[in-house]
Amino acid sequence: MPSLNDVRSTFLDYFGANGHEIVPSSPLVPRNDPTLMFTAAGMVQFKNLFTGVETRDYTTAATAQKCVRAGGKHNDLDNVGYTARHHTFFEMLGNFSFGDYFKEEAIPLAWTLLTREFGIDPDKLLVTVYHTDEEAVAIWKKTAGLPDDRIIRIATDDNFWSAGPTGPCGPCTEIFYDHGPDIWGGPPGSAEEDGDRFIEIWNLVFMQYEQFADGSRRDLDAQSIDTGMGLERIGALLQGKHDNYDTDLFRALIEASASVTGTDPDGDGNVHHRVIADHLRSSSFLIADGVLPASEGRGYVLRRIMRRAMRHAHLLGAKDPLMHRLVPELVAQMGQAYPELGHGQRMIEETLLSEETRFRRTLDRGLRLLDDELTRLPEGTDLPGETAFKLYDTFGFPLDLTQDALREKGIGVNTESFDSAMAAQKAQARASWVGSGEQADAAVWFDVADRHGMTEFLGYADLVAEAQVLAIVVGGERVAQAAAGTDVQVVTNQTPFYAEAGGQVGDAGTIETDGARIEVTDTRKVAGVFIHFGTVVAGTLREGDTARLTVDGDRRARIRANHSATHLLNEALREVLGDHVAQRGSLNDGERLRFDFSHPKALTADEIASVQARINGFIRQNGPVSTRIMDLSTARELGAQALFGEKYGEEVRVVSMGQTATGKGPARDTWSIELCGGTHVGRTGEIGLCVITGDSASSAGVRRIEALTGQAALDHLAGQARQLAETAAIVKAAPQDLADRVRQLAEDRRRLEVEVAQLRRDVAMGGGGTAPEARTVAGVPFVAQVLQGVTGKDLPSLVDAQKGRMGSGAVLLIADAGDKAAVAAGVTDDLTGRISAVDMVKAAVAALGGKGGGGRPDMAQGGAKDARRSEAAIAAAEAILSGD
Ligand code: SER
Repeated sequence: MPSLNDVRSTFLDYFGANGHEIVPSSPLVPRNDPTLMFTAAGMVQFKNLFTGVETRDYTTAATAQKCVRAGGKHNDLDNVGYTARHHTFFEMLGNFSFGDYFKEEAIPLAWTLLTREFGIDPDKLLVTVYHTDEEAVAIWKKTAGLPDDRIIRIATDDNFWSAGPTGPCGPCTEIFYDHGPDIWGGPPGSAEEDGDRFIEIWNLVFMQYEQFADGSRRDLDAQSIDTGMGLERIGALLQGKHDNYDTDLFRALIEASASVTGTDPDGDGNVHHRVIADHLRSSSFLIADGVLPASEGRGYVLRRIMRRAMRHAHLLGAKDPLMHRLVPELVAQMGQAYPELGHGQRMIEETLLSEETRFRRTLDRGLRLLDDELTRLPEGTDLPGETAFKLYDTFGFPLDLTQDALREKGIGVNTESFDSAMAAQKAQARASWVGSGEQADAAVWFDVADRHGMTEFLGYADLVAEAQVLAIVVGGERVAQAAAGTDVQVVTNQTPFYAEAGGQVGDAGTIETDGARIEVTDTRKVAGVFIHFGTVVAGTLREGDTARLTVDGDRRARIRANHSATHLLNEALREVLGDHVAQRGSLNDGERLRFDFSHPKALTADEIASVQARINGFIRQNGPVSTRIMDLSTARELGAQALFGEKYGEEVRVVSMGQTATGKGPARDTWSIELCGGTHVGRTGEIGLCVITGDSASSAGVRRIEALTGQAALDHLAGQARQLAETAAIVKAAPQDLADRVRQLAEDRRRLEVEVAQLRRDVAMGGGGTAPEARTVAGVPFVAQVLQGVTGKDLPSLVDAQKGRMGSGAVLLIADAGDKAAVAAGVTDDLTGRISAVDMVKAAVAALGGKGGGGRPDMAQGGAKDARRSEAAIAAAEAILSGD
C-alpha cells in the first residue's frame, strides 16, 4: 500500500521522466495574485505563464502544491471534521504545459499514470468533458477506449474552469472513480451526482482563453494545460479507503492527537481528532510561510483555524496546550517533502503554544457563557448576534468557532445582528479616535476602513507584492482616477510598504499598474489603513487597478539595519550605564539612527567606547533575529523592553537578537528582547558596523545618541581617516605620530608666545634694555613714555622694571593701542610719602579725556579711549610732581 509520500513521489517522478521540470511548491501566500488570500490551486504560481506575460526556461512542469482553502473565496473551514474529503490544507498534484503540449498529450499522460503507474482498474474510471469539446471525446475514445456512456458531456461551469472572474480559463475534462454500487450516488450530471459513489479524482484544464473584467474573452496565444489532483483523495483511493482521514498520514496525526490526550482515536472524539489533524496542517504550514496570528486579514484566518482546533482539543478534555505537541509528528510525516516545516518547527511550536496558552484563559469562561445563553434560548431560535459578538469581543471566539460549537446542537447564529454589533463597535472606535483630535481629516480613511477593512501588511517577508487599488485620495477627497503630475494618496488591499510607526520611518518605492507609475515617498497609517503618499509620474491611476508595489529595497535595508542596531544600543546602554536607562524616543531612517533615553549626564568617552564595542560584538556574532507574537504579560515576564508610556494591545510582537550564555530570552539565551512592530535584519551581521557619532542632551534628564550603521558608518570612518591623513600631512607627521606632534607644536607655541611677549616689551622700552632718559621735575627724576605694541597688561611690569633702573623717581607709561589707551604710573618707595602714583594716573587719564584710574601710591593704572592727547597727559602728570 503506497503511503501519501509514495504517491506524491510517484506522481512527480512520472512527470519528471516525461520531461517535466519539477518545480517546488510556491508559498501559501501568493506573490503574484492580489485577489487571492491563499494559494488554492497548483496553477496560481504559473498564472502569468499561461497569459504569456512571463516566460521561464521550461515549458512543461509538475508540482505538489500546498493549498489552503479557508477564508476568502475558497472556504472549506466549516465542513472540516464532519466530512470525508474536506480540508483547510491539502496538496494539489499537477502537471502543466505552457504552450508546449495540449489535449492530445495531456489525456494519454494522465491515463497512463492512473492505470499503469497507480494500477487503477480502467473499468472503474469514467470522465466528463465540456459539452462542445468533441476533440476531447475523440481523444478519450482513442486513448482509453472508453465507451460513450463513460464519457459524459456536461454543459455547466463544472467543466469550464477559470481561476477567477478574470484570467486564463478553458474547458476541462474530469476523471471520476466509481466506488461501486454499494455506495449511494449517481454519475456526474445525474440527479444523484452528490452521492459518494462517483468521486472526482483529477481535473485536466485545457487553457485556451483569457477572460477580461468586461466579459470579453480572447484566445490565448498558446494553448496550455493545467491539471489538478488532490493528493489526499488519490492517496485514499490507492490505499483502498473511502475517507481521506483514514490514510496513513492522517492516521498518524490522529493517533498522535489521541495519544497526547489519552483518548480513543476512533471513539466519540473522532471528529475532534480529525479537526485537530487538519487544522494542525494548515496552521503549521501557514506559520512556516510567515503568517502569524493577528486580528485582521490572513493572520485572522490563521487564528480562526488555530482556535477552532483548540476548542476541539478542549472538548477532548485536554487540560494543557496540545497543538504544539503534535508538530513533531507532522514534521516526521511531511518534513521531507516540505523542508520549511523542519526549518520553522521551533517557530511553529512557539506560536501554537502561545496562542493556545492565551486562548485557554478565556475559552472556559466563554463556553460557560455560551451554555448559560443556550439554556435561556427558546427552542428553534438562533443564538442572538449580540451574544456571538460578546464571545468574539470579550472572549476571543471567532464567529465560526461559535457556529462550530452550536453546530452539533443544530443551532445557528444570527449573523445579521452580529454584523451590526461589530459595525456599532467600529463606529464607536472611530468617534473616540476622531474626538481625540489627532487628525480631523481622518474621516476619509475611516470610510475606507469601513468599506474595505484594514490593510494587510506583507512587508515583514516581502518587498514586492501585487495588490488592488482600493482608494485614491487627492487633496483630501476620494477620486476615481488620477492623471500624471498629481500628488496622490493611494490605499491598496495589501502592501509590502511599512507605514511609519515606532520610530521607523515609512517606506518609499513605486506603485505600477498597466497604465501608470507612482513614485511613493512615504507611507503612513490611519485606523489600520496604510496610505502611500506619492506622485503619479506617468499615465493614469484608476481605482480597481491591479498594481505591483515595490519597496525601495536599498533604503529599507538601511532602515532595517538602523532599527536593529537601535535595539542593540538600547541593551548596551542599560548594561554599561545601568537599569535606569529607559527608551524615551527613537528615529530610524535611511540615513542614521537616533535614540533618546533617560540618563542624567553626558557619557564619558570610555562609556561610549564600551557601548559601541558591545553593539559591534553582537553584530559580528551574526546571530538570528527572531520575531514572536505573544501576549503582553508573557512578554513582560521575559523582561522585554517596551516604550515608556506607550499603549500596547493584549497581544504583542516581540523581537529578540543577540545570543548569550545567560540571556533572558524565551530560550534563556537572548540578549536583547523588545516589543516592536518594526522590520529587522534577518541576522545581526547584516548591520555590518555601528559607529556612535554623537551624544547630546535632548531635554532635562534625557540624553540623545546618534549613530550610523553599514555603509554610512564606513563612510564616516573613511572621512575621519581622510581628515587625519590631511592633518598629518600638514604638520609633516605620520598619522600615528600626530598626537605627539600636535602636543609638541602646542608646547612650542606656548613657549614662543612667552618669548614674543618679552621681546615686545623689550622693543617697546627702547630695545636691548637701554633705559629712556629721565628728566627732573621738581627734584624728582621722571620718565614718561608713549609705547606702541604693548597692552595695558604689560604696563605694570614695565613700570616696575623702569623703577628698578632709576632707583628713585617717578614713571608714567602710556600704551597706545589705537582705539584705546592704557596708562600706568609708578613711584619708587622713597618718594611715595610725597607723590602718589594714583594722582599721576588720574591726572593723565583726565587729560586723555577719560575718567578714573586707581591703585596704590607706588603703582596705579587707568585707561582712556585713545592716546592722541598723550603730551597733555604727560604734562598733567608732571604737574602732579611739581605740586602745581
Ligand atoms: N486549476 C484546476 C483546479 O484547481 C486544475 O489544476 O482544479
